[in-house]
Amino acid sequence: MSQNNSRQSGRADVGVIVVAAGSGQRLGLGIPKARVLCAGRTLLEHALQGVLAAGVADVVVVVLPPGDDVLSAVVAREADIAQGHQVLAVTGGRTRTASVRAGLEALPSSIRTVLVHDAARALTPPGVFRRVSEAVAAGMAAVIPVVPVVDTVKIVQGNMVTETPDRAALRAVQTPQGFDRATLLAAHAGEASDDPRVTDDAMLMEAGGVGVHVVDGDPLAFKVTTALDLVVAEAVLARVIPAQPRPATD
Ligand code: CTP
Ligand code: MG
Repeated sequence: MSQNNSRQSGRADVGVIVVAAGSGQRLGLGIPKARVLCAGRTLLEHALQGVLAAGVADVVVVVLPPGDDVLSAVVAREADIAQGHQVLAVTGGRTRTASVRAGLEALPSSIRTVLVHDAARALTPPGVFRRVSEAVAAGMAAVIPVVPVVDTVKIVQGNMVTETPDRAALRAVQTPQGFDRATLLAAHAGEASDDPRVTDDAMLMEAGGVGVHVVDGDPLAFKVTTALDLVVAEAVLARVIPAQPRPATD
């Protein structure tokens, strides 16, 4: 499959849910993170470009903050120019888990495999989408992309270290995370889905006893969380990724 950024048609039974309904508290700019500009375009536009370029799915459901006209317009524009893809917008919930559930409810019944992706991982390369979707297609019910942990990590209680986990066994987790749709729906129906400590869908799978497989992630799939991450994303776009021609929309 071509590695360029042209928009490719994906598999008809694969859907991607892009969660973009968060408020971006840690970025601290006073607007939803997906709406923040990076090299002149919103993080949501960067994220959707990656999703569509990956060519793994025909259906993309974008989960937005309530009443966000700017992001609704971004999705409408993408829907217009995304040849061969169906791009829908739905409203998210108070937690990431609730937003994923809103996306799941909007997926057409024909979808059998779901990739859940953070809009905040706006520069995720197409190869990560492909590795995840290929692993699910090969029969794994839950697949997550991971990268090695570079820092030494401590478990702390109060202001005291209680343990130092073996770094060689630790991985940092990224998105897209890929799942068999029915298994993901069952996991979201379980008790753990109300736990505010749940930060990704793989945790719900683990709580339900489903085996979660890992594939290689990519440093460029980092999450824009803080102001420093935004600076890094700007630098990546300026220096590494040449500007992509955009179709005229008006
Ligand atoms: N997300 C969502 N709905 C929520 C919370 C988060 O769709 N209620 C999405 C975010 O838009 C983001 C992804 O989940 O793409 C990962 O969340 P995070 O990085 O925590 O984003 P925010 O919640 O927006 O940031 P913060 O936690 O700093 O407020
Ligand atoms: Mg958050």
